[in-house]
Amino acid sequence: MILLGLNIDHCATVRQARYRDAATRGGAVEPDPVTLALLGERAGADGITVHLREDRRHIQERDVWRLREDIATRLNLEMACTPAMTAFALKLKPETVCIVPENRQEISTEGGLDVVGNRKAVRACIDAMNAAGIQTSLFIDPDEAQIELAAKLGAPIVELHTGAYANAYFGQKRAKEFQRLRLGCVRAHELGLTVNAGHGINYVNIAEVRTLPHLHELNIGHSIISRALFTGIEEAVREMRVRMNT
Ligand code: PXP
Repeated sequence: MILLGLNIDHCATVRQARYRDAATRGGAVEPDPVTLALLGERAGADGITVHLREDRRHIQERDVWRLREDIATRLNLEMACTPAMTAFALKLKPETVCIVPENRQEISTEGGLDVVGNRKAVRACIDAMNAAGIQTSLFIDPDEAQIELAAKLGAPIVELHTGAYANAYFGQKRAKEFQRLRLGCVRAHELGLTVNAGHGINYVNIAEVRTLPHLHELNIGHSIISRALFTGIEEAVREMRVRMNT
């Protein structure tokens, strides 16, 4: 069975659109991402994912601490590979961190983390997390060199970036992008890595994405949060889980 990591960032995006200051001070503000996470878990989400960005444009530190306290599944913290975020994660102790690029120079051609170009900093982060019993996932393109270095540096998990495939879905490059993902999954699995994937996965392309080999977990945000506007979060999560696994 493929697991679902529910990314709740865009619930916070909607909140921040109105309550930029109130969200960091507390008080009754809506929509509350923690409430969304708990409902998502009730509907079958296997983990909750948030990206605490350096610019704090959606998720706030307070949200992350409340999630740590309240959720019953696993917390996956997406973060930049910086000393400040590493220190934060070591205090928070999420089950996993997923290192994502935030600055231009950390981004590879397709948009994943450029592990090859940032080898030293990425290794320092993986080492710190391994020592603390926190699993590190690297959000990378399905590129052989990036996957091989992820394994070499001791990351237990890779999350393959499905964005290029999702963007090409109605275009001519779809088959090529899907094949890149397929080969990436196979290579990562051969190297003993746990294989996750995410970005741009929706209720339509999931029919093909779910056929990728060796998939452990998919991190999905935008499509589920969007559908939840019409159906509610529980139905939106249930429907995605069904489509992921049938
Ligand atoms: N995985 C990672 C590493 C992400 O940064 C994001 C959010 O951009 C997602 C998955 C979820 O992407 P989406 O919101 O398009 O489902």
